[in-house]
Amino acid sequence: MRTETEHTIYLKDYAPSPYRIVSVDLDFRIGEEATRVRAQLTVEPRPETAPGTPLVLDGEELSLSSIAIDGAPLMLSAYAAGPQGLTIVEPPLRRFVLETEVSLQPEGNTKLMGLYRSNGVWCTQCEPEGFRRITYYLDRPDALATFKVTMTAPLALAPVLLANGNLVAKGDAGDGRHFAVWEDPFPKPAYLFALVAGDLGSITDSFTTASGRKVDLAIYCEHGKEDQCDWAMDSLKRSMAWDERRFGREYDLDMFNIVAVSDFNFGAMENKGLNIFNDRLVFAKPETATDANYAGIERVIAHEYFHNWTGNRITCRDWFQLCLKEGLTVYRDQEFSSDERSRAVQRIHDVQNLRSAQFPEDGGPLAHAPRPDQYREINNFYTTTVYEKGAEIVRMLATLLGEADFRKGMDLYFERHDGEATTIEAFLTVFADATGVDLEQFKTWYLQAGTPQVTVKDAYDAASQTYTLTISQKTEPTPGQPTKSPLVIPIKFGLIGPNGSPMGWNAVTGGSVRDDMIVLDQESVTLTFSGVANKPVPSLFRGFSAPVQVHSDLTQEDNLFLARHDSDPFNRWEALQDVSTALMVDAARGKAWGNAAIEALRSALAETLANDSLDDAFKAQALTIPDESLIARAIGSDVDPERVHAVRSELIRAVFAPIASTLEAAYHGLTSTVPYAPDTAQSGRRSLRNRLLSLLVQSSDGGAALAAKQYGEATNMTDRLAALAVIGAQWTPEAPALLADFRTRFAGDPLVFDKWLTVSASAHDDGVIERMRAILADPSFPRNNPNRLRSLVGTFVMGNPVQFTRADGAGFRFVTEFVTDVDTRNPQVAARVLTGFRIWPLLEPKRREAARSALTALQAAGSLSRNSADILTRMLA
Ligand code: ARG
Ligand code: ZN
Repeated sequence: MRTETEHTIYLKDYAPSPYRIVSVDLDFRIGEEATRVRAQLTVEPRPETAPGTPLVLDGEELSLSSIAIDGAPLMLSAYAAGPQGLTIVEPPLRRFVLETEVSLQPEGNTKLMGLYRSNGVWCTQCEPEGFRRITYYLDRPDALATFKVTMTAPLALAPVLLANGNLVAKGDAGDGRHFAVWEDPFPKPAYLFALVAGDLGSITDSFTTASGRKVDLAIYCEHGKEDQCDWAMDSLKRSMAWDERRFGREYDLDMFNIVAVSDFNFGAMENKGLNIFNDRLVFAKPETATDANYAGIERVIAHEYFHNWTGNRITCRDWFQLCLKEGLTVYRDQEFSSDERSRAVQRIHDVQNLRSAQFPEDGGPLAHAPRPDQYREINNFYTTTVYEKGAEIVRMLATLLGEADFRKGMDLYFERHDGEATTIEAFLTVFADATGVDLEQFKTWYLQAGTPQVTVKDAYDAASQTYTLTISQKTEPTPGQPTKSPLVIPIKFGLIGPNGSPMGWNAVTGGSVRDDMIVLDQESVTLTFSGVANKPVPSLFRGFSAPVQVHSDLTQEDNLFLARHDSDPFNRWEALQDVSTALMVDAARGKAWGNAAIEALRSALAETLANDSLDDAFKAQALTIPDESLIARAIGSDVDPERVHAVRSELIRAVFAPIASTLEAAYHGLTSTVPYAPDTAQSGRRSLRNRLLSLLVQSSDGGAALAAKQYGEATNMTDRLAALAVIGAQWTPEAPALLADFRTRFAGDPLVFDKWLTVSASAHDDGVIERMRAILADPSFPRNNPNRLRSLVGTFVMGNPVQFTRADGAGFRFVTEFVTDVDTRNPQVAARVLTGFRIWPLLEPKRREAARSALTALQAAGSLSRNSADILTRMLA
């Protein structure tokens, strides 16, 4: 493999650059052949910089045509331009202006980093290291400068010219060209730079901030899609209002622009004043977007907007601190969604996502700390650990400190660090300073990888009326971290008495208990509660108060009791999940379930369905049987995904077949004729109805026909796709015809084509790989578009374990062949798909061997990108 993989960056080597860039003046001449970029950087040595210290700028795939300092061209011996950048051998030891001119080829840029062209539109993506593909620069997040951007382009091809900040001038440039000048007064790192030039439609609106400033808002998109941008605009205005209410954060520029583009490597990007979005996270209309799409758009619009304070005004000192902006901003978007929708349902949703994506990462070969201390390729650290576990850490901080003190800390953070590039340490220090709480041990959450395993034992002594809880924690070794230290774990809890009501106690000894929270900060603690009149059932980790895996000796009866009586909705949901997980794990290990156990689960679920005090969205989640990846995790080793799939299907049949008529009656009772709206009540109702449909298809003879009928009669995409997805996954006889209908019915809509690809890749039958090969081989398949590629192959890897991990290795080989091909054009997409192999060490020997041989063959073939090589090396370590 290439030696590039040897190049490792360490946090301990961090040092500020010896030179500062004070301001940047960029001039883009955009054209069809090539784009020329003239950069004038005002540079200053730091006071401590020694004479003769070279200025080293990053640069990649640039071709330099001129270079000067303070207007005087440089002699050849004064600089060196290479594949990694530009070195000025002996710059002046005073403020000077470095002027360079380079040319780029945006049309051939399939990596989609730097300046590229999507659907004819010139656009940029710079985070984390894309700006160096635009001009020579200090491409590091601690280099903050003010930017002025002038752009000229052919008026016919690019009537819209956008960049960061405020528009300060525009006009005719002669020759059929025009120009625009943008200025961003806020110093920013280069990763937040953005530019867009193209022929775009738009919708506009405005928002008046709390202090009365009017901000012009616009969303730009492909012509003809303007009517699909209203929900995104509505979400933006609600986000702006929420950040003022909840965190006292106002927007700071005169305009805020969003651009939707079709080719984008991930979700969206928070460039200052000019957010660029993957169009799948902007466009929505009822016929083509699902409730989940609407919720996703709302969340990501909020996320990128919230970055304006947590990310842009206060940014990261280096990329090891990525979690500083991402974990915090995910926490903020989760809170926004909770406030806008249902808190309990949102929490369950976020935890499901954490468990099915982050826990597997943290328990496999790619495990890393939320703040890693080394990397070979930073793009591979935009992970669910940095984002979602990062958000859980912030949430624990809020739980430990309490809402008011958490807000005090956040206020101090904004006050103290505004305008800076800072660190996780500085973030924790503001909370310590604002509240007097020592957070030294808490910091370990950022430094340590792995999901903590928490074991709980309890005992009740009737004679002395004492109840004891022994709680211990242990984190298994992860790559590069053989030993672990104890974490600070907040455990929100309650004790529930035999009649289902909360129980009190007189006193607690042996550990730290504050109101309804136990704080576990040692390896093990034994808490003794006195004055406990009866044996309680403990409800622990209410609201999922810490991202841990809990092992308790609660019986199935205890869990069913909690499912009925717990005042905490999260734990009610959790208790039901635990009951079915335990049954499936037993069955996978060959221990058949008894009738009584199935009946007990069935009646708890039927009771939940019939309970009028619960909302529909919650019921839909309660009626969800844990997915195959969760069952596999619970089994822990030597997993046979086919067996897991079979056991899950059997459980669904055993539990639901006898009450099929009840489910069907409930299903019909939820039918609605009101016009579609993406609101909480309606989407909750649809989610429950579609959950019932899915259970009926999987457990009753008439289910598939019912789904086919729903598919045909649906008036919105949520209902249509739900029906298609369950039929497609089961690959019932109806599947091929419905898929064919779906494809032609929405021909020409690429985002619906993605849905078709997703369903196609999810089929459990043995024909799926051949069908996917045919899809990819079709010459009309857009082989460079990340959304299309991920919808097909990403779905297969992450969502179709039965076929991906086939014992004959065909699934693994399909994916490694795909990676080899795509890696040459878009390494980020290839590397991301490759991470799907992280489950391989958990598999039973035959599948494990098949995975290993596919991975070693990929390695032997050589010449992978740094992105894919890094993933592969860690995967096989
Ligand atoms: N900062 C962007 C966001 O989370 C994502 C950038 C992703 N970059 C990457 N190389 N994966 O909002
Ligand atoms: Zn983000």
